[in-house]
Amino acid sequence: MHSTKFSLLFTAALSVSASPIRRNETAKRYAILDNDWSSVGFIPFLMALDAGIEILALTSSTSDSWQKQCAYHALATLEIGNLSCVPVIYGATYPLINTPERFQAWEMVHGVLPWQGAFAPYNATAEALGSDPTSGPDPNRIEKAAFLEGFPNSTAVEGKMAASFMIEQVHKYPGQVSIYSGGALTNIALAVRMDEDFASLAKELVVMGGYVDVNMLQATGSVNQADLNSDINLMMDPEAAKIAFTADFPSITIAGNVANQVQSTQVFLDEIYEVKNPYSELVYNHYGTLFPFWDETAMGLLIDPTLSVNSTTVLMDVDVAYASPNYGNVHVYQTALMPPHVRNVTYVNTIDADRLKSMIKHSVQYPAQPCSS
Ligand SMILES: *[C@@H]1O[C@H](CO)[C@@H](O)[C@H](O)[C@H]1NC(C)=O
Ligand SMILES: *[C@@H]1O[C@H](CO)[C@@H](O)[C@H](O)[C@H]1NC(C)=O
Ligand SMILES: *[C@@H]1O[C@H](CO)[C@@H](O)[C@H](O)[C@H]1NC(C)=O
Ligand SMILES: *[C@@H]1O[C@H](CO)[C@@H](O)[C@H](O)[C@H]1NC(C)=O
Ligand SMILES: *[C@@H]1O[C@H](CO)[C@@H](O)[C@H](O)[C@H]1NC(C)=O
Ligand SMILES: *[C@@H]1O[C@H](CO)[C@@H](O)[C@H](O)[C@H]1NC(C)=O
Repeated sequence: MHSTKFSLLFTAALSVSASPIRRNETAKRYAILDNDWSSVGFIPFLMALDAGIEILALTSSTSDSWQKQCAYHALATLEIGNLSCVPVIYGATYPLINTPERFQAWEMVHGVLPWQGAFAPYNATAEALGSDPTSGPDPNRIEKAAFLEGFPNSTAVEGKMAASFMIEQVHKYPGQVSIYSGGALTNIALAVRMDEDFASLAKELVVMGGYVDVNMLQATGSVNQADLNSDINLMMDPEAAKIAFTADFPSITIAGNVANQVQSTQVFLDEIYEVKNPYSELVYNHYGTLFPFWDETAMGLLIDPTLSVNSTTVLMDVDVAYASPNYGNVHVYQTALMPPHVRNVTYVNTIDADRLKSMIKHSVQYPAQPCSS
């Protein structure tokens, strides 16, 4: 997700696995949630727990900030709800090939993004005032001032990395592990490349990001609208997005344009805060009303695909030409005109907004307690 707080500053191949997977739709569901966790980024994991999905781990992605800081947010936001039995696992610090310098050089040629995520220029003053780290001297630095939720007392799992953990878990529970992506796709791409059975052994990939045909909004909209329609999760690591979106997951669901459908409003934040707990307090005080429920939309679709009321099956690829103004943006095709190596994804156009809002509200007001049982 983008940070709610600091954007204010701007002012397919077929599945070929060794043995066929027996699918049982009523079987227990597992998920690994890969995201650039933040002070108010916890709603997706609360929604998954509320739906009875067992979260095998929260893995950390460099996207809005560096992955280590994001992992600390994951730990802290679990801790405030007594959810520390959910493991947190570090991801890759750098995208496959992108770096802050390379990204900033691209911006010199193709124009700046309103929200630049972890690749925004280093600003020591902003970090001292509570901004999550961007660019700068040490990607593993932790900026304590950013922990609105409290600084974590728990720690990430020792000796494990997101990509290898994902691989281990899909072999343990073949066909049952949903992979959720709310940040850059680096860890998922690494898992795809490390183990050619990884994607086909997962249940699915569900992604926040992947806007189609939004260039005019970037031109004629406000800077905020341009921000809502720029694909930072994919643009942080375009090569990883391409690897993930063309891998042979049994299904891929893309929450791109639809992620902008359900806007946060003060009325809804007030409604959530009718029940007081550490999560509703953070949402009420810090979620803000500038942005839609991006990551929550993707999680809603993971929990219940019937949340989608209109979707299109399209073949999808990611532009990985560094010289392109669309570097890191998706491109869609029909079968008659497809290049090799692309595959169909479910591109959701519209969701049931009221149902998403009730999922969000219930999960925040009455957080599940899987650790106490
Ligand atoms: C499917 O999974 C459920 C829950 O684990 C189990 O009760 C049921 O027997 C399974 N059905 C089949 C056909 O394997
Ligand atoms: C960690 O413990 C300290 C001291 O008890 C507390 O102030 C802080 O809020 C705790 N962190 C979280 C995320 O709960
Ligand atoms: C966490 O556990 C403590 C101690 O049992 C309890 O006081 C607190 O209300 C719990 N917090 C939440 C958010 O459930
Ligand atoms: C750095 O952050 C501070 C505090 O948010 C802000 O006032 C200042 O303009 C920023 N500097 C640059 C160069 O963006
Ligand atoms: C579904 O969405 C597509 C793309 O936005 C639109 O063209 C189509 O009219 C919609 N279908 C229905 C039944 O609303
Ligand atoms: C993609 O999906 C469409 C619609 O379901 C189908 O007609 C087409 O054959 C699929 N193409 C490929 C390459 O799988």
